[in-house]
Order: sequence, then C-alpha cells, then structure tokens
Amino acid sequence: MFNNKTINKFRSLATPFYYYDLETLNDTLNSLLINSDSDNFKIHYALKANANNKILEIIKHNGIGADCVSGNEIKKAVETGFNPSDIVFAGVGKSDEEIITGINTGISCFNCESLQELQTINELAKGNNNIINVALRINPNIDAKSHYYITTGLKENKFGISQNELNEIINNLSNFNSLKLTGLHFHIGSQITNFEVFKSLCIRINEMQRWFTDMGIFFEHINVGGGLGVDYVNVNKNPIPNFKEYFNIFKELLEIHSGQSVYFELGRSIVANCGSLISKVLYIKKGTTTKFVILDAGMTELIRPALYQSYHKIENLSSEGTKEIYDVVGPICETSDIFGKAVSLPFTHRDDLIVIRSTGAYGEVMSLSYNLRDKAKHHYSDELK
Ligand code: LLP
Repeated sequence: MFNNKTINKFRSLATPFYYYDLETLNDTLNSLLINSDSDNFKIHYALKANANNKILEIIKHNGIGADCVSGNEIKKAVETGFNPSDIVFAGVGKSDEEIITGINTGISCFNCESLQELQTINELAKGNNNIINVALRINPNIDAKSHYYITTGLKENKFGISQNELNEIINNLSNFNSLKLTGLHFHIGSQITNFEVFKSLCIRINEMQRWFTDMGIFFEHINVGGGLGVDYVNVNKNPIPNFKEYFNIFKELLEIHSGQSVYFELGRSIVANCGSLISKVLYIKKGTTTKFVILDAGMTELIRPALYQSYHKIENLSSEGTKEIYDVVGPICETSDIFGKAVSLPFTHRDDLIVIRSTGAYGEVMSLSYNLRDKAKHHYSDELK
C-alpha cells in the first residue's frame, strides 16, 4: 500500500492526516458486489463509518444505498446523489427536526425503535400527503461477541424494541394512519468476526418472522443490519473481509418470502482497510520502564484505541533499523491517549513517519476538537500519483 513514491509524497504533507487508498476501496466494493449478487439483496452503506465526499461518491456509483442515523447524514446522502428511495434512517433518538427531514426528503424507510417514536412520526407525517414506510427494529437479545461498547442487540442495550413493547406496538398499529409497516430491522453490533453470531441472527429472524406471519403481518423487506468485522491484525494478508462466507450464511439460513428483499447495512467492512492515519514522531522519550514514541496524532484524530481498547497495526515508514519495543502515544493531556503498548518498531527517531492502519471506518468521522486541536486533513491515493 505504501511504496517509496507514496512515502516521499507523504513527506511533503502536513501531518497528521488521513490517507485513503482508493484501489483498496474499489477492490473491497468489487468483492462486496460479487458476493452479494442476488436478486433480493440490497446493500445500504452506513454513512456513520466514513462520510467523506470521495468515498461516498465511489460507493454511490456502485449502486449501493445509504443507511443514515441523523438528519445531516440524510442531507449529505442526498447531496452526494443517493436517490431518496435508496436511503434508510435508523437511530434510537430521532429528533422531530430529523424526522421532518426524512419525511420531506421522501426516504425509503424509517427504522423505528419505540412506540413513542412511531407515534411521533405518525403525528409529524399527518400534514404530509404521503404514507411513511416504517420498519420495526427488534432487539433480538443476541450477543455479538464483540466489544461491550459496540454490542447493540442484548436486552440490556438501549437499542431495538423489546418483546414487551412489541405487543403494545402491534395493538396500536391500526391507529397509525400515516404509517405503513414495510420491514423488520435488526442490528446486533459491530466488528463481529464470529460468523456463528450471524447464524444465530438468521435463526432468530426466522422465528420472529413466523411469529408475525401467524398474526397475518407480512414484510416487504428484512433488514439484517451491519456488523461484519475486519481483520485489524493481519490487514496485509486479509485487506478484504470474507464477504463470501458472510452472504452465504444469509443465503442459506434466512427464510426469505417470495417477493421479499433483504437489506444489509454495512459500514466498517467496506471502508476500514482503505484508510490510514499518517503521523510524525515528535519525540522519543525514555520513561522509567518503557520508551515512548510521542506522535503528532492523538486520540483527537483516532479515538478508537482510547474508547474501545481497539488494536490498530502501527508501522514506521521511515526506518528499517533493528526492532525496539515502544509505547506509541499521542500528545493529548489524557492518560488514555495511547495507540499501542509494547509495540515492536524499527529503531524510531524524531520526524519518522508512522502509519496507523485500518482507520478508514470510525476514524476521521469520530475526530474531536478537544484541546482546540485543528482538524486533520485527508488525502486520497489518486491525488498523490
Ligand atoms: N446499522 C446500524 C443501525 C448501526 O448502528 C451501525 C453501526 C451499522 C449499521 C454499521 O455497522 P458496521 O457494519 O459498521 O459494523 N464507533 C464504533 C462502531 C460503532 C457502530 C455503530 N453502529 C467503532 O469504532 O468500533
């Protein structure tokens, strides 16, 4: 991914910055499309993972829809050229203003998470002549076996409708004159690498569908959410997730009714490995028990390690010296501002270029202005040729 020419270009750019390798993005999209090729499968890209213009444009040009979680993401999707009929809107706390944005845009579906939310959308839609499509996001109580903070489908999580509230919603359905129930939605978590989890999800969805069918309720689409994980450790060996195995699980196990569509809302698996955070070494500091590499990038540019103790591969692009062990940290006044402990790197000097890999998803979008830091810029591979 980083040949000498690219590294030389990096040297002329102000650090830290995000670098996006568009070849990796395109290869990932090709694999995604080949393996999801089925008449009734439809992909909506989760904008929350990365909403950069060029990334969105490329994804849109591949015929993929948009999964949004805010009014501003809906606006961004429309600005990028996504067709409103290809936009779905999720979120546990949609504000009235955001709901109105969704209604006025004419998006394809609201994924709803509570009785009050359905009542609110119904009320806000009354002035509008159109009937609003809604899907019910069910909390299936399935463990994603991922980090606690990115697990969303357990009964103690705030997401999705519980069985208790589901009964109440069904009893109230006939009161929602402005709504049409078109789908059933699930999203159980992110960075899921244990494929058994997706099998359990299929089994649970089948049970739920049968339960609804017995009551005479049918759905135009089933939305299985996102969550497919990437290989952060062996990113060079496995830059593209195993889409084949992932989609095969749904092809084989999900009971799809005639004429029904299956929606997928993938974010991380599409963009994580095309992105890198490029940083410069400010100082090498000898601590009491360890040597620190202090970077000019910190948790303000990439919060994942501090927030989820997540692993990102760290490499030195400037040195080929003998290996040393370092703690790689940022400059922010927080003890959690650590990118990696006991990282083996070639002998590292001030001004060396360091790359933090697999940061295309939930990297730049989650950056902060804490300490009044400037926002890091981003560069794309086609601009550095
Ligand atoms: N659909 C819904 C309703 C979601 O909440 C999410 C992610 C997705 C789809 C996309 O999931 P993905 O395919 O990217 O796993 N900031 C965390 C990840 C939070 C994920 C939030 N929801 C991180 O850096 O790991």
